[in-house]
Amino acid sequence: MSFDLLVTNAVLPDGTNANIGCAGGKITAVGRDISGEAGVMLDAGGQLVAPPFVDPHFHMDATLSLGRPRMNTSGTLLEGIALWGELKPLQTVDEIIERALRYCDLAVSMGIGAIRSHVDVCDDELKGVDALLEVRKQVAPYLDLQLVAFPQDGVLRDPTAMQNLLRALDRGVDVVGGIPHFERTMTDGAESVRQLCEIAAERGLRVDMHCDESDDPHSRHVETLAYETTRLGLQGRVTGSHLTSMHSMDNYYVSKLISLIAEAELHAVPNPLINIMLQGRHDTYPKRRGQTRVPELRDAGVNVGFGSDCVMDPWYSLGRADMLDVGAMGLHVGQLSSRADMRWCFEAVTVNSAKVMGLDGYGLDVGCDANFVLLQADDTIEALRLRAHRLATVRGGKVIAQAPRVEHVLDLPNRPKMLDASAYAPKGNSG
Ligand code: FE2
Repeated sequence: MSFDLLVTNAVLPDGTNANIGCAGGKITAVGRDISGEAGVMLDAGGQLVAPPFVDPHFHMDATLSLGRPRMNTSGTLLEGIALWGELKPLQTVDEIIERALRYCDLAVSMGIGAIRSHVDVCDDELKGVDALLEVRKQVAPYLDLQLVAFPQDGVLRDPTAMQNLLRALDRGVDVVGGIPHFERTMTDGAESVRQLCEIAAERGLRVDMHCDESDDPHSRHVETLAYETTRLGLQGRVTGSHLTSMHSMDNYYVSKLISLIAEAELHAVPNPLINIMLQGRHDTYPKRRGQTRVPELRDAGVNVGFGSDCVMDPWYSLGRADMLDVGAMGLHVGQLSSRADMRWCFEAVTVNSAKVMGLDGYGLDVGCDANFVLLQADDTIEALRLRAHRLATVRGGKVIAQAPRVEHVLDLPNRPKMLDASAYAPKGNSG
């Protein structure tokens, strides 16, 4: 057989050993005995090869803006939204493009192959929309960027938001967004869900709403989202992002709600790094974790992917495009500590998130796009434990980012070596 790229001695996420042959941008052979001529050979050295990381929830119009025009001092979601409102009129299309491209470079080097980014449409100039449509075009050869028309200030609460959301969709934004818990009333929130789902159904688009990102157990818009999804035949095409109020809801009510979510085939996208930081800010002690009910949703058959949400913006000062960081935080907050649960957390930042985005050709099977990441780890649990070093990112059968192995000391990459003990010996008179 002949290949453009042949990866040898790989360990796949399911633990099997395999070689992976790629030709014409696709995976054409996978198995232990695959061999042949290849334009490029890549020895995986017994390390993990996984399909690329997928970030199903991000805000690329805000990323890397930390400190402009000031810091979020309370650390709350609401101050973040207010701060974002101050930044929006100050930024230019070129500035948003520059920051977003810088972020995409970082993301690719960290093994991310696809990002779903919300873009704020509550701006009569639609600067973020124009910027990210340009970025989507520029990064297409190396990153799948899907855009969500996101009415940050509320599609009913903001007087021009609906009109701007429709303009954004007309310009080519892919997905319909919303934020029902930020509308003026619960009734308006439910009405926004109804109207936005109808727009998606009419246009044949997917839906991804910031839904119930609140500690208020009475924030139940996901119930309406599930209902409208079923009513309009949108099953499998709708995502509820955050869903943090579910953490605080009455258990009896949740036992009914989860079955409605499963029936509607909603995808759930918690954003562990951000919500462990933002939720419970009005609590004294105990402070609620605020992560939605991840294992319960998963066990009911709901597809759950983890998103990163923010990197260095008005809501979150940290982050480095590391989906293993996201997976590890989701693991801790959800207490997903069994071996099977930890392996599932790796799926939450890869295959599950690809399902959220509806990506075609994703995976390591023959016929899939030849996109994957080589990690310096023996398996998926080790990858999460170490936030494993990325050795290579492959896209369309070509290596597009590569780094040398890092030296391990007790398996912790980059750990400083202990100096000779004599360096600490007391100096001077010893008696
Ligand atoms: Fe978000």
